[in-house]
Amino acid sequence: MDVKTHWEKVYQTKAPDSVSWYRPHLESSFALIERTAAGPHSAIIDVGGGESTLADDLMSWGYQDITVLDISETAISVCKKRMEARAHQIRWLVADVTLAGLDKCAYDAWHDRAVFHFLNGSETTCRLCRECRAVSETRRACHR
Ligand SMILES: C[S@@+](CC[C@H](N)C(=O)[O-])C[C@H]1O[C@@H](n2cnc3c(N)ncnc32)[C@H](O)[C@@H]1O
Repeated sequence: MDVKTHWEKVYQTKAPDSVSWYRPHLESSFALIERTAAGPHSAIIDVGGGESTLADDLMSWGYQDITVLDISETAISVCKKRMEARAHQIRWLVADVTLAGLDKCAYDAWHDRAVFHFLNGSETTCRLCRECRAVSETRRACHR
């Protein structure tokens, strides 16, 4: 089974709060972003955001430039539905991060939680390093 099919199946068959990595709020991630980003005007990308509520919380705290990237269309749809009218304020990217081709220095802070350990192989790591260039050197908030 390829990676995308695997994750679509996970999100199509499990409720958001029934997965092992579920937390109602990602407090540690939020604290990391607060420490790393230069304030609510910063451009934040949550890579492999899944169905987490991090984007909701960032928005509640005034962040206005939020991108959520995930390989699963299902996960992104669940988030959009949960956020209702606020969903249009987020940039949603359904993509494989290792192939996404994010613009260089497009983001001030990169967040990922429980994503990178699913990505194996040196070729994948090289591709990810290329994607990490989407973030300015000094503001990476990687959470593994
Ligand atoms: C364990 S979940 C963590 C979700 C979320 N970060 C959280 O903390 O609740 C891993 C997430 O990474 C996504 N993912 C896995 N491989 C990916 C890839 N190559 N590109 C983009 N997203 C990926 C999955 O769809 C899934 O949503």
